[in-house]
Amino acid sequence: MSIRTLDDLLAEGVSGRRVLVRADLNVPLDKQTGDITDDGRIRAVLPTLGALVEAGAKVVVCSHLGRPKGTPDPQFSLSPVAGRLGELLGAPVHFATDTVGDSARSTVAGLADGQVALLENLRFNAGETSKDDAERGAFADQLAAFGDAYVDDAFGAVHRKHASVYDVPARLPHVAGRLVLREVEVLSKLTGDPERPYVVVLGGSKVSDKLAVIEALLPTVDRLLIGGGMCFTFLKAQGLEVGTSLLEKEMVETCGNLLERSGGKIMLPVDVVVADAFAPDAAHDTVRVDGIPSHRLGLDIGPETVAGFAAALSQAKTVFWNGPMGVFEMPAFAAGTRGVAEAITKADAFSVVGGGDSAAAVRALGLDESSFGHISTGGGASLEYLEGKTLPGIAALEN
Ligand code: 3PG
Ligand code: MG
Repeated sequence: MSIRTLDDLLAEGVSGRRVLVRADLNVPLDKQTGDITDDGRIRAVLPTLGALVEAGAKVVVCSHLGRPKGTPDPQFSLSPVAGRLGELLGAPVHFATDTVGDSARSTVAGLADGQVALLENLRFNAGETSKDDAERGAFADQLAAFGDAYVDDAFGAVHRKHASVYDVPARLPHVAGRLVLREVEVLSKLTGDPERPYVVVLGGSKVSDKLAVIEALLPTVDRLLIGGGMCFTFLKAQGLEVGTSLLEKEMVETCGNLLERSGGKIMLPVDVVVADAFAPDAAHDTVRVDGIPSHRLGLDIGPETVAGFAAALSQAKTVFWNGPMGVFEMPAFAAGTRGVAEAITKADAFSVVGGGDSAAAVRALGLDESSFGHISTGGGASLEYLEGKTLPGIAALEN
């Protein structure tokens, strides 16, 4: 890989230089209180930020949070993230209340060597996500003015052709941060020559989000275990009644084709937990997949399915897992996700947890993070990497 790294930049010396770091600090917030419910992505960039602080750089961090529409929206402010980042770094983080305006300019200008600033949400600016090269470029010019060098440590956003990810590195000397390097190193093991059996577990709500990765993985994997909301579209394709469970009608035929072509590699649930409603206290029962009542919806995989998946996982030498098996946020429907996660930790395998919800599930269920080989910070990014797509953020670092 022809990518320069943080160590190359550190070797040049960064003391007194302004280093612009693109991080993915897009953490989940509690809807009621606004509190950070999982700070995994903040902790994941500490090695890069710590090294720059130690080396005496003036560190300017930028990130998106959520999907505001190109204009300031207080519910997506990075302000709580600045507080948490400061706690974790053990030194206050100077927060700019805009991204490239007066506050950002004075905050960056006021940084002493070894201090850290965080700019307000990149997506408060239409230029960040614009499809228009000139509009993105104009915003990238403003961002690039805050750095003498650029570090990309936002693995979760490398699949986005956004100004801070794609256009800024074209304007500044650029390197990959520790997190981006580690993620690419791990995921390239899966696309290279994984030790077999290679078992992939996919869950989450939508087949349409996972279709490309299923297509890309089918020739490579030994087993593909499918749970979560997306399993009902596959069950429907087998001619089963799925009640009021999540169903992507327009994907049923595609799922049928995948099952036919999979050569028996795809394993689907044999039992599911069905409920009267999508609610934590809804009445629920475990039924076989050919006995889902027409008025009930499936919210988790059942115990027999967990046992079957666990048996497949116990043979594995390499495991990739993306997407929860059920509505793990509700204790009544968490057993499937917990059971599969525990089976992965028990397997004598190199295991990778793919970003977003599955990484949050590992932490929310109180599982030991260190019993997994790697927990990715990128949901969409890790899937697109496994699909073999060119990732704009990585391509920009290669140039
Ligand atoms: C993520 O959470 O997947 C990343 O932070 C990217 O966010 P996005 O999907 O809104 O671009
Ligand atoms: Mg995403």
